[in-house]
Amino acid sequence: MTLKQNPTERDAHVNQLYEQLVEIEQRLIPTGLHVFGRAAELKEKADLLRMVASFDRPEHGARALPEFVAAALGIEDYHELKQANSTSEARELVDGIVVEAVNVFCESGAEAAVNWLSSRTGKDAEQSRPTFLLLAEVSEQLDSNHEMESLLRALRGEYIGPGPGADIVQNPFVLPTGRNTHAVNPYSVPSHIAFVRAKGTADALLRRHFEEHGRYPRALALVLWGLDNIKTQGEGVAQALWLLGVRPVRDSLNRATEIEVIPLEELNRPRIDVVMTVSGIFRDLFTPTMSLLDKAVRRVAALDEPLEMNYVRRNVREKMDAEHGTFDDAVTRVFSNAPGNYGTNVNFMVLQSEWENDSTLGDLFVTRKCFAYTRDSAGRNVEGREARHLLDDALSRVEATYQNIDSFEVGITDVDHYFEYLGGISKAVETRSQSRPAIYLSDSLSSQTRIRSLEETVRLETRAKTLNPKWYEGMLKHGFRGVAEIENHVANTFGWSATADAVDPWIYTEISKTFLLDEAMFQRLMELNPYSVNSLTKRLMEAHERGYWNPDEEILERLRDVLSAPLGQL
Ligand code: BEZ
Ligand code: MG
Repeated sequence: MTLKQNPTERDAHVNQLYEQLVEIEQRLIPTGLHVFGRAAELKEKADLLRMVASFDRPEHGARALPEFVAAALGIEDYHELKQANSTSEARELVDGIVVEAVNVFCESGAEAAVNWLSSRTGKDAEQSRPTFLLLAEVSEQLDSNHEMESLLRALRGEYIGPGPGADIVQNPFVLPTGRNTHAVNPYSVPSHIAFVRAKGTADALLRRHFEEHGRYPRALALVLWGLDNIKTQGEGVAQALWLLGVRPVRDSLNRATEIEVIPLEELNRPRIDVVMTVSGIFRDLFTPTMSLLDKAVRRVAALDEPLEMNYVRRNVREKMDAEHGTFDDAVTRVFSNAPGNYGTNVNFMVLQSEWENDSTLGDLFVTRKCFAYTRDSAGRNVEGREARHLLDDALSRVEATYQNIDSFEVGITDVDHYFEYLGGISKAVETRSQSRPAIYLSDSLSSQTRIRSLEETVRLETRAKTLNPKWYEGMLKHGFRGVAEIENHVANTFGWSATADAVDPWIYTEISKTFLLDEAMFQRLMELNPYSVNSLTKRLMEAHERGYWNPDEEILERLRDVLSAPLGQL
């Protein structure tokens, strides 16, 4: 890194660094695994409760605690400060008070927290009472745990009470755990709130693309998952509708089955062509939603609008003109697995090192996901017709790929599913459009929407988790399994190199230094789980051999040493 000489540039640079540090510091991470049947620990609980308290909960009459504190202190632009994601004394002051108030709550209860807040902000803190009462309820439920009891009941074939499926932060009433998770009524998706939130995200996504490329993407590929759309009541679905420039309309039975076109004057931007690849779980749970999405694309393609303001129409026209094809083929945009099939298998191919050319990974994605779900012009349902040429064609126009992340518990290096989907489709686009797409993720969890490039997200996840002592020490408390989790993170990081070339080489270097070259750490890992150490080392070596990283001699030697020692002697 070169130090900028010009003082203004230097200050801006230092500021930027500071903001990145704060971003990493504030990132909520799980510090350890959930142990079946065991309640959350106090420290973990405080972090969770602070997140729960940071949202308005009108259904409980509870205000977001940071907004309440800011208002009590007379800081009027807190919302803007947060939105800008910049740091300031005012913001630090508010956040500090919130942390302390939740700590007081954890130690002495709701009443004490209300009183503390009142003395700290110099205002009557009565208004914060509903928030702390909500926290009291959540806290009590976090302390109780019926998982083991429920498992035994289930094994005896007895009744298990139902509970909603969501993230604790999104819906604290997923607690207590150990219940029978129920999904949503697919006809209720997207909910009103999901649609409102999705507008912010879709706008931010398009703004970011515009800033980076000077125009909107001609077509965008979207990954939609079932569980995510359950948790968010359909935010992903709503984002697709916004990008197309339509809103859902409820029919007389209050079901979201109809579409209303948002006029271009109101939309103020072109309608984006959206190619949707949905998971097998989504397909099974959200059949009516798939029809809604398909209906939206067809409606938009048929609008009599200038082609430069309606990319769906432009792309459909282009394809029909080029191939003398049918409207039904040219407008197909909703794809999933064949009926009864799930997943892309890209994760298996990557983790088993079974590919030679990069394009193989994208081809596998298309092979698995090229089944069209639509209703043709004659009104006939098409449920999973193999249509490889149509997905190939739709992807060849894609300029950006995107997935919404809705949970702080599971990020893009925690599981192999993000790279199998978003990585898989990005690789498929790269070969079909002859150019690597811009790859984005959003963080719809926090109250302010963040769009990040894949590279930024990999860096953030690496710093907040894999290389963060808080994270890996939390994992190592679990012994053998904890080391396996670290190894999983390295393997999933590798997945982003394989599918999207999105991992900076320094990441592999720092992983090597932290886990293999630090002698004390290396010995600890070896004692706990030499098998995962071996796999992790193999993965780093493979990253080198495949050209993702060029380690210096010291590191390379260490990798060779670890790999040449027989596992039994490790
Ligand atoms: C889903 O919810 O659709 C999903 C869950 C795990 C992996 C892939 C998809
Ligand atoms: Mg799995």
